[in-house]
Amino acid sequence: MKEKLQQIKEAALSELRAAECDTEALRVRYLGKKGELTAVLRGMGALTPEERPVVGQMANEVRAEIEAALTARVAEEKERALNDQLVREKLDVTMPGNATRMGHQHPLTRAQREMEEIFIGMGFEIAEGPEVEYDYYNFKALNIPENHPARDTQDTFYITDNVLLRSQTSPVQVRVMEKQSPPIRVISPGRVYRSDALDATHSPLFHQMEGLVVDKGITMSDLKGTLETFAKKMFGEETKIRFRPHHFPFTEPSAEVDVSCFVCGGKGCRVCKGEGWIEILGAGMVHPFVLENCGIDPEVYSGFAFGMGLERVTMTRYGIDDIRLFYENDERFLKQF
Ligand code: PHE
Repeated sequence: MKEKLQQIKEAALSELRAAECDTEALRVRYLGKKGELTAVLRGMGALTPEERPVVGQMANEVRAEIEAALTARVAEEKERALNDQLVREKLDVTMPGNATRMGHQHPLTRAQREMEEIFIGMGFEIAEGPEVEYDYYNFKALNIPENHPARDTQDTFYITDNVLLRSQTSPVQVRVMEKQSPPIRVISPGRVYRSDALDATHSPLFHQMEGLVVDKGITMSDLKGTLETFAKKMFGEETKIRFRPHHFPFTEPSAEVDVSCFVCGGKGCRVCKGEGWIEILGAGMVHPFVLENCGIDPEVYSGFAFGMGLERVTMTRYGIDDIRLFYENDERFLKQF
């Protein structure tokens, strides 16, 4: 019996030293209820009373030794698995990363921000107004009564009889003057809507930036100086501006303003269509009726206003020849800015 125990011990320990070893199966096979060691203990009834405690003690020692070796082997395997995992999952910081493709601002947003910066630098503040507007602000307060032909030139999307999608940013002028007393110096960029068919130069939705200055003693030369400063900053130091007489119901006198072509400098080229000049905005001195409509005394105060198309300025600035490119979200176009 002692030899049997000795055999079991040696067999178990040698299996535990082997490279491959299923520790759980080994525990069951040697130490489990139906295991080899238990089988030996069951046979102890056949021993003499003197032998019994000796064999019993030996059996306990064998069990203890196998258990200790088993525990050590399990711990060793755990540690090896952990080490393997650490090696496997090591982070190599020298590996090239996956490049993330960065987006950027839309060219219109960029141009708008640039224009805002220029006017903010001249002391203007930004004012915003609603895109769904009352007829009163879009037309009437701006000295454009019903049946006035100017309403036809701005084909308007009406929502009800007196609510519409604003056809210009000029209604913001009125909203600002109603709330604020002079001195006033604001620009208001935003979306405007006209029921135009979409083509290379027209879109039913586009953007304008309005400007308004009201104070004592404001003259046409303030308007000229302001627009010239803007044009030089936006299109380059050599840029010149030109005023052409025009009519707007809400300004008097009124003008259309051109900038010298930034490509040919005024000689005439493809971009300016041989003109040497590019029209970018409408402007004028705020009509006394408009000041009055807003509760500002035209005997005391005067002002100027201008409004320009953001798309037009951006197209001029970057040499873009089709307004539809702004709205199509074609990356081949957008990527270039
Ligand atoms: N609102 C005018 C337009 O849309 C532009 C403008 C603004 C003209 C302010 C004069 C003064 O055509």
